Amino acid sequence: MKPILILDFDSTIVTIESLDALAEISLAKHPERDERLARIEELTKLGMEGKLGFRESLAERVRLLDANQGHLEVLAKRLKKCLSPSFAAHKKQLKAVADRLYVVTGGFAEFVAPIAAMLDIPNSRVYANSFLFDEDGKIIGFDDQNPLSQAGGKIPVVESIAYDGPKWVVGDGFTDYQIREAGAASRFFCYAETVYREAVAAKADSVVYGIDEVLAESDLPTRYSFPRSKIKILLLDSIDSDAAESLAAEGYRVEQVKEKLSEDELVKRIKDVSIIGVRTRTKIPARVIQAGKRLMAIGVFSVGTDHVDSAAAAARGVAVFNAPFSNTRSVVELALGEAMVLMRRVFAHSTALHEGRWTKSAAGAHEIRGKKLGIIGYGNIGSQLSVLAESVGLEVIYYDIAEKLSHGKAQRIESLHDLLKQSDIISVHFDGRASNKNLISKKEFEMMKDGVIFLNLSRGSVVDYSALRDAVLSGKVGGAGIDVFPSEPKSNDEPFDSVLRGLPNVILTPHIAGSTEEAQRNIAAYVSERLRKYVAQGETLGSVSLPDLYLPPIQKGMRILHVHRNVPGIVASVSAIFARHGVNIVGQNLKTRDQIGYLVTDIADKVSDELLAEIREVPETIKLRVLNP
Ligand SMILES: NC(=O)c1ccc[n+]([C@@H]2O[C@H](COP(=O)([O-])OP(=O)(O)OC[C@H]3O[C@@H](n4cnc5c(N)ncnc54)[C@H](O)[C@@H]3O)[C@@H](O)[C@H]2O)c1
Repeated sequence: MKPILILDFDSTIVTIESLDALAEISLAKHPERDERLARIEELTKLGMEGKLGFRESLAERVRLLDANQGHLEVLAKRLKKCLSPSFAAHKKQLKAVADRLYVVTGGFAEFVAPIAAMLDIPNSRVYANSFLFDEDGKIIGFDDQNPLSQAGGKIPVVESIAYDGPKWVVGDGFTDYQIREAGAASRFFCYAETVYREAVAAKADSVVYGIDEVLAESDLPTRYSFPRSKIKILLLDSIDSDAAESLAAEGYRVEQVKEKLSEDELVKRIKDVSIIGVRTRTKIPARVIQAGKRLMAIGVFSVGTDHVDSAAAAARGVAVFNAPFSNTRSVVELALGEAMVLMRRVFAHSTALHEGRWTKSAAGAHEIRGKKLGIIGYGNIGSQLSVLAESVGLEVIYYDIAEKLSHGKAQRIESLHDLLKQSDIISVHFDGRASNKNLISKKEFEMMKDGVIFLNLSRGSVVDYSALRDAVLSGKVGGAGIDVFPSEPKSNDEPFDSVLRGLPNVILTPHIAGSTEEAQRNIAAYVSERLRKYVAQGETLGSVSLPDLYLPPIQKGMRILHVHRNVPGIVASVSAIFARHGVNIVGQNLKTRDQIGYLVTDIADKVSDELLAEIREVPETIKLRVLNP
């Protein structure tokens, strides 16, 4: 017989502790708010630790709440938005088996029942305490005859549920474990989606991070073939919270760590992690990748990926995704803004005024209309700057080592030197590859027009800043906007130094050209989407480590993802295995990149474990993953 599931409420079905939330609502304007909240917290703790009778603790808490019907309505509304992410993601599946679901809680039916109803659990299967009200709707106590108002009260309640098959308990607290301990249930799942209580986990038959894990174990229908809460995602470096929220909403187990982890800590923590997300602070060297036995993908929530060993990731079949375009607009806006501000000498005037000097004069101040902007590096940023610059009346010329399509009226210049000689404003937007080191140096500055405005918002290594300093002091460069430096402080606590400090009409910014809240949100959305598509569909579009393949969603059957060393004959070997097993292939995609090949095979039916084992044994296999619709 399939089991019935006995669900706890607080920190299980919902992410919060409802009595605490009620206290925050009812005491919001109370003169003794802080004292009462502290006392309620203390009473909860004393009750849980058994130092105060459960019923006394509850009675005292209810008295301190000073709550009424109106407060309960506000709480019910708030709770509706606090459904645990995996419950929310599996609402349809839970409703389909609602006749197997019971709620047994020390909470109160007045706010538990409306939430249970969202999962189609009727009041008759909600076992909870109930409040007593006076005629004005004020809470004056609770039904103390209800067994749930006393310690160990869940045990007789579960015993009283008439069911001959197995009863499984799902909850985060010790009182849930006690049901199993007393023999009233046959399994206890410590529910850790919201809180992980070590003492409770130690007693549990299993620790689960999402309700889909329990559904899968009980052979009840789930939304995904593999419980998503088993896929742990570790997000570091203060990645925008949108990423964590959207991934958790899809049922993944997301952990966000704010503090910086050392490489050794990372090696330890990555062992059970399927996906790791970093911005630029945390480096991911080969040693960390090799320690990630379950690692599928690395999300780099920034543009550059130099700090992640993509070659080591490729060698282990780990997909690395970044966000190459998401902050382009932010960089372009700053470049254009600085060009205007510097042409008008606004920064120099502002500095003078801050120093108490009045400098009213038109000398050296120019409009940007009709001036020539020279863009070096016509990639994502350079080309977008070209479009925006033309819209404010600049004439654009550009130089790029690669063949590029000109936007608008922008004109390609065949030699860097010609661009340097012609431009009134020069903006550098090429990448920091080794051969670009100090590409703009003394000789290049000498070629520029007198009074040129110079911008570098790309990489600190590509410009020789001692040469720029000399050029500013000699008047060759009339103003500069510099956002990137060859060596940058690792955190805001470290001091900053540069030969450019203290120069007139030179704007220095701490590598923030791409750092806007909009860009952070764009990056979070873009990289999360790439990770989701990779996990759910095997799509590698935009990956910097694996060959990139666009793949449509799986319709039926199975999708087999095979990352292998790129040697001749590998596709034939894998196809021969399919043929031997008489498998009907619906579609196949292969892409290779350097040493790595990625073969994706869609098949009409499910395949046997023996077939998969044979593919795994092909010597060139790096990683094999199987997806169901
Ligand atoms: N300051 C910031 O906050 C910030 C934010 C985003 C990007 N960036 C940096 O800006 C730079 C440009 O970013 P992108 O997204 O436009 O990169 P991209 O790769 O799209 O474009 C770079 C372009 O430079 C060209 N190029 C390379 N070497 C060149 C050379 N020697 N001469 C001329 N052209 C050359 C390439 O062919 C390419 O077209 C990168 O270095 C990136 O790291 C900085």
